[in-house]
Amino acid sequence: MEIELHHIHKRFGPVHANNDVNLTFHGGRIVGILGENGAGKSTLMKILSGYQPADSGEIHIDGQRVIYHGTQQAIQHGIGMLQQDPLDVAAFTVLENFIYGQPGGQQLPRKAAAEQLSTISRRFGFELDPDTPCYHLSIGQRQQLEIVRLLALGVKTLILDEPTTGISAEQKQILFDALRELATKDGMSVLLVSHKLEDVIALCHEVAVLRAGRVVGAKEMPATTRQLVTLMFGQELAPQTRTRENLQGRPEAVRLDGVTLRGKRLSVENLSLSIRAGEVIGLAGLDGSGQELLLRACAGLVKPASGRLYLGGHDMTGQSYRQFLAQGVAFGAAGRLEEGLVGGLTLTEHIALITETNTVIDWGRARQHTADQIKLYDVRGRPESRIETLSGGNQQRMLMALMPQKPLLLVLEQPTRGLDVDSARWIWEQLFTRQATGAAMVFSTPDLDELVTYSDRILVFYSGQVYEVKDATRTTIDELGRLIGGHFEEQTQ
Ligand SMILES: Nc1ncnc2c1ncn2[C@@H]1O[C@H](COP(=O)(O)OP(=O)(O)OP(=O)(O)O)[C@@H](O)[C@H]1O
Ligand SMILES: [Mg+2]
Repeated sequence: MEIELHHIHKRFGPVHANNDVNLTFHGGRIVGILGENGAGKSTLMKILSGYQPADSGEIHIDGQRVIYHGTQQAIQHGIGMLQQDPLDVAAFTVLENFIYGQPGGQQLPRKAAAEQLSTISRRFGFELDPDTPCYHLSIGQRQQLEIVRLLALGVKTLILDEPTTGISAEQKQILFDALRELATKDGMSVLLVSHKLEDVIALCHEVAVLRAGRVVGAKEMPATTRQLVTLMFGQELAPQTRTRENLQGRPEAVRLDGVTLRGKRLSVENLSLSIRAGEVIGLAGLDGSGQELLLRACAGLVKPASGRLYLGGHDMTGQSYRQFLAQGVAFGAAGRLEEGLVGGLTLTEHIALITETNTVIDWGRARQHTADQIKLYDVRGRPESRIETLSGGNQQRMLMALMPQKPLLLVLEQPTRGLDVDSARWIWEQLFTRQATGAAMVFSTPDLDELVTYSDRILVFYSGQVYEVKDATRTTIDELGRLIGGHFEEQTQ
């Protein structure tokens, strides 16, 4: 299957999100779609997959012009897309979501559907239990379900928008093997939107680069990270390093005394930890290994089952999230639209939620404040934009704009998730201006490089067990990789 895009344009008010895009995609190939935050990647992919129409331009499949309205029709033409945030129905089981997603869905016999689900899952080594409700699935599993669903519908072109953010290294491997097989064995074309250049290098046959809505480059792979960065930003980026200060004698910001945290699937037992002001603690581990429990405990969102937790010397054990906020904790969750930001609200409304503490909200003041924050944090959006209309990277910038300037403790889950390389550095600069004022920081990330670059200390989580890396400033990505896989014993002697 060959897809040609001719002169695609899409505007959102003043934003020219796609500006005369011309591209051709061939079957049997994996194409990386690259570009900085807000470049127009998701917009283009949503047009191609029928989520939204282009303002003008044409799509041709195998030489024929096609016009479609909606994703169902795009799927009938063989084009299916995995959204940046999976859209399944959380209360339904895996099988119900699978059935519900088929055309004429409800009528499909359960047994036949279950067989099809299991056949496709097995082929790619996906672990999908048909009877599990979707809210129990990890992001990686929800993604697998969506792939299986699209394959069952017979798509020939599979579009993935940042599929590796928020999934474990293991799931990533399974996903990549599946994509390679789909391209090389089944002759499908795979379009991969990604900021992870190492993923693009590992997987793609070619790349196309967007900047400010236009195609500014294309390249056959292989290419180096440097070449890709230069294509994306028009220049190389100097390596970012961090100068570490001596934290001796700094006051204690956080203290955990024998804290036990119970999660749905595992618990972290009897953890003691002291974090000084200005100290940066990196949490490593596969998704769901317990690090999210510690993060949420530090923010007052998970209450210790036993043990005590202190902030700046105050016993906060069992206190509410609000009280943690009042004590100077700032929390940024990975699921931006689920926990950090509120879908449907505008940027001004988000700012007002935080700054306008009176019962009568001064909207003029809130709007001005929002405009200032937008400028300061270089958010591509307007005060009246609803948060979900911002590109993924700009949502992350907004989250940063909502964080207090002088927190006692920053609790950050995957703070650079979905950010382009340049924006990720920018976020770290922002974080370090807060760290310089004495804020302690606890963050998690699947990116081992990020852990090594920014942490003073690293805690590795493996199914609820915690291991502290001996010297975080000297550790390597290889060592961290082994620890994350649970090989603690070798290190402890
Ligand atoms: N529904 C919408 N309403 C208003 N503006 C929108 C909408 N969708 C996208 N935009 C704007 O269009 C531009 C391109 O957004 P898009 O989501 O395509 O970027 P992206 O390349 O996917 O970025 P990221 O890497 O951050 O995900 C951005 O300025 C964004 O704010
Ligand atoms: Mg995007």
